[in-house]
Amino acid sequence: MKVVEPTAQSVAEAATLLRDGKLVAFPTETVYGLGGDATNERAVAAIFDAKGRPQFNPLISHVLDAAAARQFVRWNETAEKLAARFWPGPLTLVLPRSKGSPISLLATAGLDTVAIRAPSHPMAQALIRAAGRPVAAPSANRSGAISPTRAEHVAESLGDKVPMILDGGPCLVGVESTVLDLSTATPILLRPGGATRESIEAVIGPIALSDAIPNGEAAHKSPGQMQSHYAPERPVRLEAISVAADEGLLAFGPTVPTGAMLTYNLSPTADLGEAAANLFSMLRALDRPGIGRIAVMPIPQTGLGLAINDRLRRAAADDGTGRHG
Ligand code: TXA
Ligand code: MG
Repeated sequence: MKVVEPTAQSVAEAATLLRDGKLVAFPTETVYGLGGDATNERAVAAIFDAKGRPQFNPLISHVLDAAAARQFVRWNETAEKLAARFWPGPLTLVLPRSKGSPISLLATAGLDTVAIRAPSHPMAQALIRAAGRPVAAPSANRSGAISPTRAEHVAESLGDKVPMILDGGPCLVGVESTVLDLSTATPILLRPGGATRESIEAVIGPIALSDAIPNGEAAHKSPGQMQSHYAPERPVRLEAISVAADEGLLAFGPTVPTGAMLTYNLSPTADLGEAAANLFSMLRALDRPGIGRIAVMPIPQTGLGLAINDRLRRAAADDGTGRHG
């Protein structure tokens, strides 16, 4: 790992790392981000691996401006107004994924929405511009630690996990971005942050608070355990060591039972990074008419396996009764 001053040369180097699927920690005006190519499933898997998170929480994709955002999400009038007032800056908008959006499914934890924002820190902008693609970035800390607002914090927390840390000095805002869900009829504040509720309401009128809606959509959209998650329509059976003829099989490793209607292998070589990268696209591919149930082979409970198993357990608990639980 090296901590470098963000010069034109180091930013170009960092952009090359990103395009190669590697990770780079970089400053934003809110907190430091642990960045990877948002269109590269393996790069996004590496972000979760580095953070050591036992869950795949959806990540924010960072772009230069509203014009760029329109390539990846279904933009709307409310988003336009908010972007005109707050971008670049500490406001993240959650919008429906556009058809054919190249944003990694792992980056959105399989959800049909994408969280997107345009950071105002010049180094973040220079990096995104040089990379020529959206950059997925959670706060650059290990899971459970507080968000880093200086390059030294990143080095302490993730020093051995990231090849380059761009040092842009202390973060001016110092708290994470506000996350606002615009995919519902009334905008919902999912996470308070750098852009205040009052300043948002001054632009678009009243918004809902995620914890103010009884038994509503928002209750499980708030960060953490209650977060909305991807669930297939078909029932999911875990720890499968054999398979029935009406089942689709999500396999793992070199030894795969035969007889399934359709089989996808998360990783024939039992590589958990590859498995994480394939998880949501393969689940979606198996969740289709003609398949009665999705059987999933055992996944080791180590490294990224924890997050993979967490999502699979939630998918199985839903048992086809709904998309949230
Ligand atoms: O200020 C920030 O937002 C920093 C800098 C690096 O940009 N990033 C950050 O990322 O705080 P992270 O991963 O620590 O937090 C992302 C938040 C989480 O609360 C997550 O649940 C929410 O955004 N989020 C992301 N995608 C979402 C989606 N599709 N639907 C609902 N919430 C989403
Ligand atoms: Mg965080």
